[in-house]
Amino acid sequence: MKKVFAVLGDPIEHSLSPIMHNSAFEALDMDCTYHAFRVGKNDLENALQGAKAMGFGGLNLTVPLKETALSFVDADPLAAKIGAINTIDFKDGIKGYNTDGIGAKRTIEDEGVEIKDKNVLILGAGGAARAIAFTFAEAGARVNIANRTPERAMQLAAEIGDAKGYGLDIVDKGLDEIDILINTTTVGLGHSNGTLVSAEQMHSDLAVFDIVYNPLMTKLLQEAETAGARHITGIMMLVYQGAEAFRIWTGREPPIEIMKRTVMEALDI
Ligand code: ATR
Repeated sequence: MKKVFAVLGDPIEHSLSPIMHNSAFEALDMDCTYHAFRVGKNDLENALQGAKAMGFGGLNLTVPLKETALSFVDADPLAAKIGAINTIDFKDGIKGYNTDGIGAKRTIEDEGVEIKDKNVLILGAGGAARAIAFTFAEAGARVNIANRTPERAMQLAAEIGDAKGYGLDIVDKGLDEIDILINTTTVGLGHSNGTLVSAEQMHSDLAVFDIVYNPLMTKLLQEAETAGARHITGIMMLVYQGAEAFRIWTGREPPIEIMKRTVMEALDI
């Protein structure tokens, strides 16, 4: 019988997860199907129990469920530290994972950029920043966080332990010591054309990664190009966070290129 997978969230209409995972199942000739369901916070516990009872293969969670889910799942240690769940596996109870940080890590490694012992500056201190900060710290990076509200950056740094938190003005002091710059804020999204760092503040050995993928070449990445720095677009983070979930559920090697092509086509890139 077909194995069912799904993404839950609200709003959910624009999720790319169904086409991405269905393209992967099809490519590997697996008898599986992936759907999107609109589920709010109040219905999450029932939805999880129902999906488990009906033999679902696994779930992804998106806004506004990622944090709420911690109360209803057996969270793996990294997800518990991050404080958010984006992947649920039903093989052994209801286990919760967070693959967002791993998605970012793989995206950067894919570009040949090492993370271990590197100085990383993360812009932002929201959910995506938490996932990336804890995952990169665990991978041996020296993590720095700069946020518009400095207290949030300092709080996150304190939770990580061996990390530092700042206001955005740290950027004005220069990025000479930084190897990898990651934007997790919404600045640059859509037609805003904003950037928190300009070409003059960058250096050519810097790797600049923007998790925003709409547009693909954000203003920040254009600035990186001007500075002669390496620039990495957000599209592969979307693919890799899904690919890691796929690996957790199925134990199979995800067809990355096919997943990427499907997402790029859907975004008309
Ligand atoms: P997510 O979970 O997607 O990371 P979030 O938790 O809403 O989203 O976090 C958004 C991040 O973008 C925050 O770090 C936010 O800064 P504050 O903590 O000061 O709110 C940052 N952000 C949003 N708009 C910004 C802007 N115009 N300039 C600078 N930072 C901004």
